[in-house]
Amino acid sequence: MAASTNQAAWLIKADTPLQVGDAPLPAAGPGEIVVKNAAIAINPLDCHMQDSGVFVQQWPAIFGCDVAGEVYETGPDVQRFKKGDRVIGHAINLASGRPQDGAFALYTVIPVDKAAILPDAISFTDGVVVPFALEAAVCVLSLKEPGVAMPGVATPALNLPYPSLEHPVPSLGKTLVVYGGSSSVGSMTTQLATAAGIHVISIAGAHNLDFSKSCGAAEVFDHKNPLIVDLVVKEVSKSGNEFIGIFDAISTPETYAHDLAILAALGGGHLACVHPPPPATDVPANVKAGMIFAINDVAAPVWRDYVTPALQAGKLKCLPPPSIVGNGLEHIQEALKRSKAGVSATKLVVGL
Ligand SMILES: NC(=O)c1ccc[n+]([C@@H]2O[C@H](COP(=O)([O-])OP(=O)(O)OC[C@H]3O[C@@H](n4cnc5c(N)ncnc54)[C@H](OP(=O)(O)O)[C@@H]3O)[C@@H](O)[C@H]2O)c1
Repeated sequence: MAASTNQAAWLIKADTPLQVGDAPLPAAGPGEIVVKNAAIAINPLDCHMQDSGVFVQQWPAIFGCDVAGEVYETGPDVQRFKKGDRVIGHAINLASGRPQDGAFALYTVIPVDKAAILPDAISFTDGVVVPFALEAAVCVLSLKEPGVAMPGVATPALNLPYPSLEHPVPSLGKTLVVYGGSSSVGSMTTQLATAAGIHVISIAGAHNLDFSKSCGAAEVFDHKNPLIVDLVVKEVSKSGNEFIGIFDAISTPETYAHDLAILAALGGGHLACVHPPPPATDVPANVKAGMIFAINDVAAPVWRDYVTPALQAGKLKCLPPPSIVGNGLEHIQEALKRSKAGVSATKLVVGL
């Protein structure tokens, strides 16, 4: 049998197109698996990395966060997976800087704590929409103590329970607002929060109200509605629940202004952002603002105990659905271009 060879879509320097070329075949160390990728997904972060080189620690770079494929090799101590298993995984080049930890390659190293078996009934191109968004959602919901997202910016600590496999799940009597309910991270946070018994009210595009409801939101409002603040405040009050706060998956000056108005009307709460939150001087003392950093061990129990049975039971859905840009590493550059132009309730995916 011919030896396996690896290829990757390399970033040689910032603001240049990716170049497909040979790459070393990675080996699995302790606590790791090597996945032979069948599909990868694109995230907005990838565009920032390509454009500015932000987070790149080693040039040339291989980046990308989401893989689905078959286990090619397991590390010496790995029990949970064996060669040939179908898996999805969250690639952590963003934190480690190692090229072998980037998704945009034929083979990628994935930590065992960031992988789960993908049920046979789910295609690789569907399953690959889950990993990075799932880890981000757990970081929104379940951190117990604030950590450091970046110098001077704390992570949010909503201290909410992990999603449960129970059906129906008992209500926690708490309401969370998700701003950006049709985005990848917003829709996954809606799914996991709902599965933890949290009442979710979301804000999405007019054409995606039903989509956000299909992720579990109890009520969804059009983000272009000029009365959005009043509508959300009334709906939260109507729920009769304790108000947790807002997860803002968009985090722009426009959404921050709405967040702060909603929080002011409801007596404060958490403001979990995906980019640095508004300056502390603009945030009242009763608002706990922070920014997620979506690589954290807090997600390990969800990867280990929840993802596979929840996918199997249809409780965790592969949403937003993929849009397949092409097959082969050479299509990643086109997918990045489309991501930069913006997507609506879909995740861009490349088959390999
Ligand atoms: N800090 C971290 O660790 C971390 C981790 C993951 C992601 N992020 C960041 O989080 C953001 C979201 O990522 P993603 O992958 O979820 O993005 P995405 O799926 O590409 O987001 C697209 C969605 O944004 C929605 N949207 C745009 N403007 C909106 C507005 N004013 N109100 C409500 N919805 C709006 C669109 O909704 P409609 O089409 O319905 O209008 C669309 O469905 C990105 O900026 C990303 O870089 C940060």
